[in-house]
Amino acid sequence: MAIVTTKEMFQKAYAGGYAVGAFNVNNMEIIQGITEAAGELKAPVILQVSKGARAYANHTYLVKLVEAAAQENPDIPIALHLDHGDSFELCKSCIDGGFTSVMIDASSKSFEDNIALTKKVVEYAHDHGVVVEAELGTLAGVEDEVVVEAGNEMFTRPEEVEEFVTKTGCDSLAIAIGTSHGAYKFKPGTKPQLRFDVLEECSKRLPGFPIVLHGASSVPQDFVAEINQFGGSMPGAIGIPEEQLRHAAELAVCKINIDSDIRLAMTASIRKYFAEHPDHFDPRQYLKPARAAVKAMVAHKIVDVLGCNGKA
Ligand code: G3H
Ligand code: 13P
Ligand code: ZN
Repeated sequence: MAIVTTKEMFQKAYAGGYAVGAFNVNNMEIIQGITEAAGELKAPVILQVSKGARAYANHTYLVKLVEAAAQENPDIPIALHLDHGDSFELCKSCIDGGFTSVMIDASSKSFEDNIALTKKVVEYAHDHGVVVEAELGTLAGVEDEVVVEAGNEMFTRPEEVEEFVTKTGCDSLAIAIGTSHGAYKFKPGTKPQLRFDVLEECSKRLPGFPIVLHGASSVPQDFVAEINQFGGSMPGAIGIPEEQLRHAAELAVCKINIDSDIRLAMTASIRKYFAEHPDHFDPRQYLKPARAAVKAMVAHKIVDVLGCNGKA
């Protein structure tokens, strides 16, 4: 199957009460780990590229790697998405360069400016057969170089979503309900709790419309423990409880973004490998188990969190 948009994926996910995983990709091993898991589990999958990933690996390399993954996994739909596009020019470059979906994240701008920029991207994208994700509300955490402290996030205001979606024509909407980017999502000792009331209010006003959750890594504590055991230092790393993500997937959330858990899976594996094999220096030796760790983590998400196995 060629690389597809998210349109049909989201329609099926909404109707079926599950979500599609959107995993951030930066290199070959990450792309292979994710798509091997999705391929074996017959799950639709979104591979997303941030501005930072594009700067790290180069647009063309990432597109070609994703095309190779689609060729190797012909039975599953794969979407190629720009994560947190921050300008019309960046979105245009990805639309012109083979992406099937882009996010324009103008959530830090005023409501009016967010609408204006999103609408401009939507017009260009739709003319080129590409779908657009937009964002209303501000998450805490780290996005590219922007840091928003926990407590300074702004939950999405449900009374704004209808006007925003109607005026922009966007295809999906990321909302802020208490998730945040990175591996330190909550202060230790506090109880993580997503604002399902905000989610339900938003989806009531947008019947049938796909909602997106960013900052949805669970920060598995076995990865954190392994990192700390083998020379790392990540005290107080906490994520979103998986049962809350599962619940969101049963509601209107059709896309769940995961990046930090990939980083943790790889880092834990590589730290352990080096501690146990101090004399090894061939990158294939430590990247092979790291890729397997990504695959196992993604398989777990697909089956136990997203519920999209067998939905390809
Ligand atoms: O939301 C941010 C994603 O985790 C991408 O992170 O900008 O460091 O590639 P990055
Ligand atoms: P995490 O940092 O929780 O993995 O979030 C990733 C994300 O939202 C990418 O856009
Ligand atoms: Zn994000």
